[in-house]
Amino acid sequence: MYLTKKEEEMLNGAEGGIVAKCMKLLVKLGEIYGADKMVKITSAQASGVSYKSIGEPGLEFLRGFAKDGAKVRVPTYLNPAGMDLGNWRDFGISEKFAKKQIEIIDAFKKMGVYLTCSCTPYLLGNLPRFKEHLAWSESSAVIFANSVIGARTNREGGPSALAAAITGRTGNYGLHLDENRKPDSLIDVKTDLKTNADFSALGYWTGKTIKDRIPYFCGIGDCTTDNLKIFGAAMAASGGIALYHIHDKTPEARQEIKNLEKIIFTANDLKKCRSELSDCDDPDLIVIGCPHASFAEIETLTKKLKGKKLTKELWIFTSRSQKIWADEMGYTGIIQEAGAKIVCDTCMVVSPLEEMDYKCIGTNSGKAAKYLPGFCKKKVYFADIDSLLEKGLK
Ligand code: F3S
Repeated sequence: MYLTKKEEEMLNGAEGGIVAKCMKLLVKLGEIYGADKMVKITSAQASGVSYKSIGEPGLEFLRGFAKDGAKVRVPTYLNPAGMDLGNWRDFGISEKFAKKQIEIIDAFKKMGVYLTCSCTPYLLGNLPRFKEHLAWSESSAVIFANSVIGARTNREGGPSALAAAITGRTGNYGLHLDENRKPDSLIDVKTDLKTNADFSALGYWTGKTIKDRIPYFCGIGDCTTDNLKIFGAAMAASGGIALYHIHDKTPEARQEIKNLEKIIFTANDLKKCRSELSDCDDPDLIVIGCPHASFAEIETLTKKLKGKKLTKELWIFTSRSQKIWADEMGYTGIIQEAGAKIVCDTCMVVSPLEEMDYKCIGTNSGKAAKYLPGFCKKKVYFADIDSLLEKGLK
């Protein structure tokens, strides 16, 4: 693997022990995956933020890095933490958990990482350009950057994303290379996708069906950025997909597709998939915002909730910056008036939901539906927002 003179120096300790350690990790990964050289990245996204996910060993690692003076050299955004940092007491988070979580956040802050605590960095002032190289790690953000924007990032792990942030580089392999971005399966969608839940169900089915391959979709009509956000998240969760193309919709969709294996997705598949994702039908908590809700999604919910009273709990997960806009527009007040809550910095999967007394969780996200049973020991009711609200407004 070719290294520039500067990279050689970084590897040999000219910029200190932490930089050398990070370069060593990136060179090792580059050698394993056949990188010819390093590429400079324009931003990184660090995962492994929730104390629930990384526990004591992860905290120890971050504490050590921060103490030894690690500093990121490109804009680096943080994935959701295990709790709402400004309001954790209201959500039944224990003092012990909160103390550990705050230590993790402090360690990232010392390293110069922006405390965005969101899986939607592209909605927070970090919109990469086509073909920019990144080192992002949260799977729904990775698939969005690759597919919807046409930027280039592999699915980094927490340590490799941090190493890339600290060195400003990553190995030139995998999805950084044009030849690895071609589709290898054709999915012909023969049904209308109307809601986020429909997009999410198709995403979930695709990941389950083709695992970690690169799908090319035909037959998808009008769609919004929010549809694509939830669509990719489900695909990445059920199958490990990091890039998809949609005919006429995504920037790299002008690909040769003649010889691809064709798989058909029908209305019946959609129905089956939606029912497969549910194992209860009377949610005691409804969660929206996996990936984190955009301002547009909060606005839609505000309109639906205006003047109504919920009988079930409804939590909307989002980033702090989208919530500030919602506050400014008076949406937060309307949402709270209806009995719902906006929760920042965290999500239904990485917060310790398993310690709370909810049994059946309603969601419109295929990714949340996939992870809630395993990570949080909860049953799931999967449905579109209107059906979820119908349950909650009864
Ligand atoms: Fe984001 Fe949490 Fe879903 S990190 S994509 S809201 S599982």
